[in-house]
Amino acid sequence: MKLLKTVCLLLIASLLLTSCKKEEKKELAVVDNANIYIKGTMDAELTAPPFVPAPVGNRTAKKLLVNMEILEKEGTMADGVQYVYWTFGGSVPGSFIRTRVGDLVEFTLSNHPDNKLPHNIDLHAVNGPGGGAESSFVAPGHKKTFSFKTVNPGLYVYHCATAPVGMHIANGMYGLILVEPEGGLPKVDKEYYIMQGDFYTKGANGDKGLQSFDMGKAIKEDADYVVFNGKVGALTGDNAITANVGETVRLFVGNGGPNLTSSFHVIGEIFDNVHIEGGTTILKDIQTTSIPSGGAAIVDFKVDVPGTFILVDHAIFRAFNKGALGMLKVSGKENKKLYSGIKQEGIYLPEGGTIQTMPDTKKKEVVTKIVEKSLAQKIKDGKQVYMKTCFACHQAEGQGIPNAFPPLAKSDYLNADVKRAIGIVLNGKTGEITVNGKKYNSVMTKQTLTEEEISDVLTYVYNSWGNNKTNVTIEMVKKVK
Ligand code: CU
Repeated sequence: MKLLKTVCLLLIASLLLTSCKKEEKKELAVVDNANIYIKGTMDAELTAPPFVPAPVGNRTAKKLLVNMEILEKEGTMADGVQYVYWTFGGSVPGSFIRTRVGDLVEFTLSNHPDNKLPHNIDLHAVNGPGGGAESSFVAPGHKKTFSFKTVNPGLYVYHCATAPVGMHIANGMYGLILVEPEGGLPKVDKEYYIMQGDFYTKGANGDKGLQSFDMGKAIKEDADYVVFNGKVGALTGDNAITANVGETVRLFVGNGGPNLTSSFHVIGEIFDNVHIEGGTTILKDIQTTSIPSGGAAIVDFKVDVPGTFILVDHAIFRAFNKGALGMLKVSGKENKKLYSGIKQEGIYLPEGGTIQTMPDTKKKEVVTKIVEKSLAQKIKDGKQVYMKTCFACHQAEGQGIPNAFPPLAKSDYLNADVKRAIGIVLNGKTGEITVNGKKYNSVMTKQTLTEEEISDVLTYVYNSWGNNKTNVTIEMVKKVK
């Protein structure tokens, strides 16, 4: 009897043990990427934004050699604004690195002999102290090599982590490394690389010349520029990314910061899939995705209709006033079922139909005798109108927004023809125009201003920012009307 009991107990114990072992095995399977066998060696393809290297597809895990060079070099932040960027691979953001889980990445970081400072790299895809920062700290004219195994699939930020860390990041030292899952991400037609960053300059936004980094503003998080791919206009006009109707587009979007969170949005599109925060969780049917500083997201969507789709940080002043604006140009056939365009255009009179017959404008003209104000008064009143109506697009100093809204400052287009200018304010303007040698193709809607307001605002514009000082009278506005 006693023996039987002992045998039973032993049996139960061994059963418990095997089930425990099974549990252990299951857990091991989850972290097995660390033990993926590597077969062969290859050089990593590195690309500058907005392009990405070829997908990994079905390739086996390999020893992947990444050679990256740090370059400190002057570049263009905006029209007429220069900045000394610190870069990984010569671009901001730095070269895109594409790996798969189980790769053994052998990373060599070279610091160009002409550079002034030591740098290093912290890759968020690394499981190890400092993400590689400690092993990669390298002085100008030297190089360092270290290696790491890619264990977790996802899209990761890398950045310089040399003190003062904030300054190195603010000068453009960040980029993305993708770790694809076994078998690769699902196939799409177009892939692009976009990374947001905030910049802090001694001068204000738009101040010309070589601008240096402003530590005070960076600490206050008071950015002068918030941009995609290192500069204003990196993804607009001729630099826009493109796709054809019916194609699927995948964007690898990162945020280098150093400070601001991006509310990434594509105007006129809905993300079909979002790998939130660059990880493996997929959310569907998303309008705007939040990308933290030092974080990333993978978004994809099918483009169904042609047109220009605007990429923005939906913290929208950053888009229209600080530069966080890009363009995706989609060409192909219209699809009226999905989007009709303008179907009808008409007069809207909220007071009701009876008012339609009232000679409203005539009444005003009878009541208000035309009295021309002094030039100084017109400029003063005109500025008020400008700040309410025109400022958002044409900007405080009439400088406009490159590739989107034409400048009014020193504008050859404006100064050549005052009647045309009055006509545009009265009736709006759609289509391509050339201002100071640059092409603009945007829409200005008809402005609901009185004749006096139009005369005031145009007089203000003509008497500001190096224009030809025309005094636009109410009479002139009437004539064009
Ligand atoms: Cu650095």
